[in-house]
Amino acid sequence: MSVHGLNVARNAKAVLHDVDLTILPGRITALLGANGAGKSSLVLAMAGVLPATSGTIALDGQSIVGLRPEAIRASGVAAVPEGHQVLNDLSVEDNLKVAGSHLSRAQLRSALDVALGTFPELRERLQARSGNLSGGQQQMVALAQAVIARPRYLLADELSFGLAPVVVARLVPVLQNLASQGIGVLLIEQFTHLALKIAHSAYVMERGRICFAGEPQELISNPEILHSAYLA
Ligand SMILES: Nc1ncnc2c1ncn2[C@@H]1O[C@H](COP(=O)(O)OP(=O)(O)OP(=O)(O)O)[C@@H](O)[C@H]1O
Ligand SMILES: [Mg+2]
Repeated sequence: MSVHGLNVARNAKAVLHDVDLTILPGRITALLGANGAGKSSLVLAMAGVLPATSGTIALDGQSIVGLRPEAIRASGVAAVPEGHQVLNDLSVEDNLKVAGSHLSRAQLRSALDVALGTFPELRERLQARSGNLSGGQQQMVALAQAVIARPRYLLADELSFGLAPVVVARLVPVLQNLASQGIGVLLIEQFTHLALKIAHSAYVMERGRICFAGEPQELISNPEILHSAYLA
């Protein structure tokens, strides 16, 4: 999935400027940058939630600009937006079933087994109201939904927000496992060292522009690149 020359405005204010970014199947791509840099806006544009002013967003070489979010999701792009976006009034089980509503009964059953095998504590809470779960458990539901939906691309916006470090540590192998199954993961992460450790490539945004694209190792070796982007 690739983005070229993307411009996006919110409330008539330009928030993304000529953004180029590619996420590859089976790879984790880290997207870093300070608060307000435009990371979430990029995810929302890629998911079809925010309109592009100009530029292209392509999936398998086909433009998806202007498609409805549901159509983009149906073609295999799953965004896990910032914040805990589970349906609070639904049970955990129903939230997971919603994510697999396009699957056959048998496929849904096995997808649920995989997701609950990954997050066993959700199995014990299947009938609980999702809104009553802890923040960490809600993020598990959001990730389990992504596992069940089996997207081709997963856009994960600050999965670790508000989570205890032990829970964050649990999410890492889940993301790596999804990538090893061929899913292209875009990882927005406040814990930059963690993202860079597991990413295959990295981008840094500064005020709506990409200011670095390259190897994670390059950012690890040259911390001043990130420092200046986070101070901008
Ligand atoms: N709901 C909104 N309506 C209008 N403008 C918004 C909205 N949310 C964010 N913006 C603006 O869009 C720009 C980019 O913000 P965005 O949320 O995409 O950055 P971010 O990199 O995700 O930041 P953070 O690390 O805080 O999540 C900022 O100037 C911000 O003020
Ligand atoms: Mg954000």
